[in-house]
Amino acid sequence: MASQVKGSEPVEVKDVAEEEEVKGPVPSHIPMAQRVSLESWGTGSMPDMPDIDDDLGVVYETDASSAKFSTISLQSSIYHYVEENGRTYHRFREGKYPLPNDQQEQDRLDLQHALFVITTHGKLFLAPIGDSPQNVLDIATGTGVWAIEMAQQFPDAQVTGTDLSPIQPQYVPPNCQFEIDDAEDEWAFSTKFDYIHGRALLSCFKDPSFVIKQAFNALAPGGYLEYQDGYFPMEFATPPPENCVLAKWNELLIAGAAASGRAWTNTRHYKRWFEEAGLVDVVQRHFYWPVNPWAKGKYYKTIGGYCQEDLLRAAEGMSLKVIGNLGWTPDAIREFLVGVKRDLKDTKIHLYVKIAFVYGRKPPAEA
Ligand SMILES: C[S@@+](CC[C@H](N)C(=O)[O-])C[C@H]1O[C@@H](n2cnc3c(N)ncnc32)[C@H](O)[C@@H]1O
Repeated sequence: MASQVKGSEPVEVKDVAEEEEVKGPVPSHIPMAQRVSLESWGTGSMPDMPDIDDDLGVVYETDASSAKFSTISLQSSIYHYVEENGRTYHRFREGKYPLPNDQQEQDRLDLQHALFVITTHGKLFLAPIGDSPQNVLDIATGTGVWAIEMAQQFPDAQVTGTDLSPIQPQYVPPNCQFEIDDAEDEWAFSTKFDYIHGRALLSCFKDPSFVIKQAFNALAPGGYLEYQDGYFPMEFATPPPENCVLAKWNELLIAGAAASGRAWTNTRHYKRWFEEAGLVDVVQRHFYWPVNPWAKGKYYKTIGGYCQEDLLRAAEGMSLKVIGNLGWTPDAIREFLVGVKRDLKDTKIHLYVKIAFVYGRKPPAEA
């Protein structure tokens, strides 16, 4: 495993706490993780399914579209990027992961991090990991924003993030480190982890159950594995219009991903795979991301604003290679995405992404 870090300035996250019914006022300069850290979401409650807002006469302005998310990266001479159709992709284990790794995608991942954290009213994780985890691993860490906030929240823990792409910042807390690593390899960590986290991995692995088994093996007895991920296809709360472009887009993404041997439809299996790997007390909780502010209430308006921005920024990166697998040209895909982006802003279409948080515990060692 080689270490590789990249330069960055702190991620600036637009504060939504002032407007939202998150728990307690949180100053905007405090990173997302610290806002939350010590709050309890309780064990029983979860947000209800979104209700349609039929009073959309009032124009809803989303914070997300004006938010600035920035990481400034240094090019690595070791891990040159692959350039294709105006986007860049990972060079290490080239071709495995279909989404880009350029600044546009990095900014989107940081925005999506905010979306995940808002979803849980500020929690970075739901597993009951206690106050003093010692070793934490974040597989497929992306820009490393989750790992950095975790390291800030637990200064006594050592937090390691791994990824195929060297897109993590250079200036990180002393207890946070990044490694370029392929999670589909046999894992060779010299330490056992108290907590392993994986988020937004649905597009990553050929055999996600193998990665889950490896995570189980890398956990210390009593340690927790947690996945946070979306389901594909997205779901409609009311029937879509005829010939709905968003429904077609979902179909094409699923078909294109399947054609590459890396299905995007595996989130529904996570809980079972956790149990089959040997994890116990596995908990699965669901959340909902309306794809724009079509749903009622401040919580869902905020989620919808961020989700819309996330998907508008992600649409091209998600589609170019994946729909390209079906023989579509980049020009044809970009033309199709004009309709996708138009409909992502249409509050008459009640599309949402279902999100799963799944966690389980490795049983204590036999006496
Ligand atoms: C959608 S991003 C999610 C990033 C991060 N977990 C987050 O939630 O912000 C998926 C990440 O997985 C990484 N990835 C994909 N396949 C991988 C693999 N086999 N091993 C390690 N990282 C991988 C990609 O490079 C990308 O950064």
